[in-house]
Amino acid sequence: MSKRVAILISGGGSNMVALARSMHGDHPARPCVVVSNRPDATGLERAAAMGIPAICVDHRPFAADRPAFEDALQTALAGYAPDMICLAGFMRVLTAGFVGQWAGRMLNIHPSLLPKYKGLNTHARAIEAGDAEAGCSVHEVTPALDDGPVLGQARVPIEPGDTPERLAARILPLEHQLYPEVLRRFVAGDRRPVRLP
Ligand code: GAR
Repeated sequence: MSKRVAILISGGGSNMVALARSMHGDHPARPCVVVSNRPDATGLERAAAMGIPAICVDHRPFAADRPAFEDALQTALAGYAPDMICLAGFMRVLTAGFVGQWAGRMLNIHPSLLPKYKGLNTHARAIEAGDAEAGCSVHEVTPALDDGPVLGQARVPIEPGDTPERLAARILPLEHQLYPEVLRRFVAGDRRPVRLP
């Protein structure tokens, strides 16, 4: 039976679309729900247009009470019985309690060559540091932020005069290639890292 994948987003959801499109035919998984923590995330409409249940669990009413937000998230997810979670541009830090409930069953994509540049503003930090290359990583989610085992990376050279926006625009299409490749392997129990190009 196919694995059921919940995809969590906060924005445009281009990685969600790439993941959802990849899960067809003999793929061992199917998307079961897309959840956004922001009601205005355009990815929700994109998911609905693809026929995937798309719901919002707004974090704002919970203010700083992360566990209460995560309880609501967990309850909403339970209605769709996911086997695993893909974080795809989900911009909320998750507590160790939530992560623990999905241990070994939650992936994330991060726009840097981990372990470099955990957190935000990754492309600007890579340019500022004078790095020769940048990229993106898919990793298993563990309680420490952007820290779990890396299951795939794609890299691009940083060009003279690059801005964070230009770099992001070159890396995003690689994210769309990398994340589906890693997911497919992961669902099949294959944890050998994917390297692109
Ligand atoms: C992607 O670049 C993803 O790597 C990044 O947010 C973007 C979401 O775009 N994720 C993070 O920064 C997580 N810390 P999308 O909504 O179009 O997929």
